[in-house]
Formats: sequence, structure tokens, C-alpha cells
Amino acid sequence: MAIRKLRVVGDEVLTKVCKPVKECTPRVQELIEDMLETMYDYGGVGLAAPQVGVLKRIIVIDVGEGPLVLINPEIIETEGEQEGEEGCLSVPGKVGIVKRPHRTKVKAYDQNMEEYIIEGTELLSRALCHEIDHLNGKMYLEVLEGELMDLEELQELKK
Ligand code: NI
Repeated sequence: MAIRKLRVVGDEVLTKVCKPVKECTPRVQELIEDMLETMYDYGGVGLAAPQVGVLKRIIVIDVGEGPLVLINPEIIETEGEQEGEEGCLSVPGKVGIVKRPHRTKVKAYDQNMEEYIIEGTELLSRALCHEIDHLNGKMYLEVLEGELMDLEELQELKK
């Protein structure tokens, strides 16, 4: 396992549409392990493969309930709306307000290429939508409500 270099906003790889994974080869397994390690090391709740420079439809998420691996994820249902702060490891030190569905249901494949369904509300719903957007070359900066804020300044204001 290894921590991979994070791509940040401005890097073209973050604007590309990723390709579906056909087979979970040892190389793909290694990528997933590295993505998890990289996400934990940077203290993120989610990471998409293009953020480490790989144009494959893979995301990892951990909202504090253990690691989730989603290969070829597809949103199949959403409900309601939530508005809240969102950040991204590829936009370091920044945060913005983004509207997301309150509940999101996703179909994906696990590391054994077994299909499964995952449903999340609140933070998990937000993370699923944010990470799946990355696979389509979309950043949260494109769906911001209002201005991008400085994380440090915001934390000062909240004190
Ligand atoms: Ni992100």
C-alpha cells in the first residue's frame, strides 16, 4: 500500500469522464487499497480515482462507519434536499455551500465485482453525490451556492 499524490484543481485529469472498470485485477485492487490509505492520510471522507490521477470509475468513502468501496457506481434514486458545507481534498483549505439530495441510493460493484445497493442520508448522501460527480469530471466548485470560503477563516468565525 502507498499514499498517492493528490491532484488538485487546475489539473486536467479532474475534468475528464472516467471509464468503467471491467475486471477487478490485482492492479485495480492495489489502486483501491492506495486510495483508502490516501483518503485516511489526508483526513477526507471520500476519494475518487481521478483525484489520484486514474481515470477509472472507482470511489472510496468513509463517513465514520468503515470503508466503502464503490466500483462503477450509479445513482438510481434520490429524495429531498439538503444544503450544507462541502470540501474536497483536491481543493485544499476551502469550503463551500452545496445543495445535495437528502437521500441517495446507489448501485455499485464491490471488490469481488458483486453488485450491491447502498443508500445514504445526510453526510453519506452528500459524499456519494460528490464522489460520483468526480467520475464525470465535475467538481463541487461548479455547483456552489454563493462564494468559495477559506476553511481557516470560517473556523475563526465559528469560534
Ligand atoms: Ni472531491
